[in-house]
This record gives sequence, C-alpha cells and structure tokens, in this order.
Amino acid sequence: MTDAPRHFLDLDRLAPEDLRHILELGKLCKAGTAGRDRPLDGQAVALIFEKPSTRTRVSFDVGIRQLGGEPVVMEPAGTQLGRGETVADTARVLSRYVDAIMIRTTKEEKLLELAEYASVPVINGLTDRTHPCQLMADVMTFEEHLGPIGGRVVAWSGDGNNMAASWIHAAVRFDFELRLACPEGLAPPAEVLAWAKAEGGSISVLHDAAQAVEGADCVVTDTWVSMGDDENDKQRRHALLQPFAVTEELMARAKSHAIFLHCLPAHRGEEVTAAVIDGPQSRVWDEAENRLHAQKAILLWCLA
Ligand code: CP
Ligand code: NVA
Repeated sequence: MTDAPRHFLDLDRLAPEDLRHILELGKLCKAGTAGRDRPLDGQAVALIFEKPSTRTRVSFDVGIRQLGGEPVVMEPAGTQLGRGETVADTARVLSRYVDAIMIRTTKEEKLLELAEYASVPVINGLTDRTHPCQLMADVMTFEEHLGPIGGRVVAWSGDGNNMAASWIHAAVRFDFELRLACPEGLAPPAEVLAWAKAEGGSISVLHDAAQAVEGADCVVTDTWVSMGDDENDKQRRHALLQPFAVTEELMARAKSHAIFLHCLPAHRGEEVTAAVIDGPQSRVWDEAENRLHAQKAILLWCLA
C-alpha cells in the first residue's frame, strides 16, 4: 500500500502550515536558493488544458523545465478526453506515465474525480469554482511588497467568481481580513462563505466598492466575464458590475501604500482603468511572474 499522493486541489483542503511552507519555498525559488540541481530530473508532469491559458500554461511548462522535469501538454481536442473517455480512466492511465498532473477544467467535480483516481499528485490550474495557484502567487506578491499578510486588509471589487472564492479560502488560511464588494446576484458561492464563517474567517460581503476599499492594503479585481460564463449574459453582467470598476478614485480610498492586483487577463476600461493597472500602485507584472515561483514550490511540495 503506497501513501496517498499529495494533491494541491484547493486552499480549503490544505493546512495553513503546508500553505505557509509552500509560500516560503516559492520565495526561495524566486531568490534562487531552492529548486536548484534539477530536483524533478527524470519526472514528467501532464498539463491538461480544457480552457485557454497563457500564464498557467507557460509558467508551469517553464517551471517544470527549470526544475529538471518534462512537461507534457494535453489539449482535449487532441486527446480521448475530448472524445468522451472518462476522467477516471484518464487519471488511471496518466498515472502510469507521469509523476504529477495539472488540470485546468470546467467543473470542480472533474478535478476531484481526477484526484480520486490518480495515484500521482493532482494540481488545480483553475476550475469554474477556484484558482488556488493564482492565490499563492498573489499572497507572495502582497508579502514581497507589504510584508506579512496576517491581519492585513484586502478588498475585492467585482464578480464573486472563482478568484473571489479562492481569495476567501486564502483569507482564512493566511489569516487576513477580506472585504468583498459584489453586486447583488453575483456574490461568491454561499457554500464558500459558509465555510469561511465556520472557520472563523474575517470576511464581509458588501455591495458598495468604496466601503470595501476604505483603508485597505490591497485592492483586487478580475474580469467581468469569466471563461465558461454565458457570453450572451455579457451586457447584463457589465451593467451590474460597472459600479465596481477599480478607478483611481476608488484606489484613493485605500491606504496610500496600497497595491493593486489582478490575475490577468485584464480589460482596461472595464473592471479596471488603464490609469490604475498601468499606474504606480499596480503590481500585476510581479504577480504574473510569481506564478512561476509559487508553482515551482507547489510542484516541489507535491513531489517531495
Ligand atoms: N491568471 C491566469 O491564470 O492566466 P491564464 O488564464 O493566462 O493562465
Ligand atoms: N475568473 C477568470 C480567471 C482567469 C485566470 C476566469 O475564470 O476566466
């Protein structure tokens, strides 16, 4: 009987000590003092993309190579997964070839099914519900610019989507206050909020962006139409989300040292103005870079 693989599925499924360990390891990877000497030499990692990606695709691919491993990129159109082979069978087969599997998919259930049937670690590269790798990079970016995140205030202004859900998980696991400003009808999932409440998290859901951002250390937003959202619903979403756009006026309500984060891709003139995302408080390029370092740490932890 072999040990269960160390999956990186969602922040709510991982212990705070493990997440802190991974985060510190990510900082060492960035500093060049961890992940050297090809620790993944002779290991292969499958990267399954059921949705488009630029950052996740390239940062995992390059990160695996930097660790001495081999990435194997799989697109549904070119695999039997795209023709209806089950996730369970795919998991069983891939486990015979590769040492870990990263998946970007639609339903969270597919991620969980993959993890259930894989005998190698599975990493969540985004689902409709969450985006935990991004949060590791985001918390790392916060700490590199503002110091320890514990007890600090992060304000989310926008759609209560997969990124919002992972911010809620992160707030509980890394012990910071999270204020979410979302329109009625686009609030984060009730079960995620209920989990945070049961865990004693400091989370509030407001309907006023200015109120949420007041005195915050960090302001975050994301696209108004996520991958998988109904494109025909775009106009309604835009109308609902317009009051939550991150503008210079909104940023001025945060602390003077506050940083702006966005997982990208961004839409200037929609969820954020060009003046903010291209302005002095924006840390989005560091944030994108930190995907590479944080994910190398995730791989090292999963494959340790
Ligand atoms: N932030 C992020 O996950 O970007 P990609 O969709 O380009 O991977
Ligand atoms: N909420 C966005 C994040 C993209 C990285 C989406 O799911 O499309």
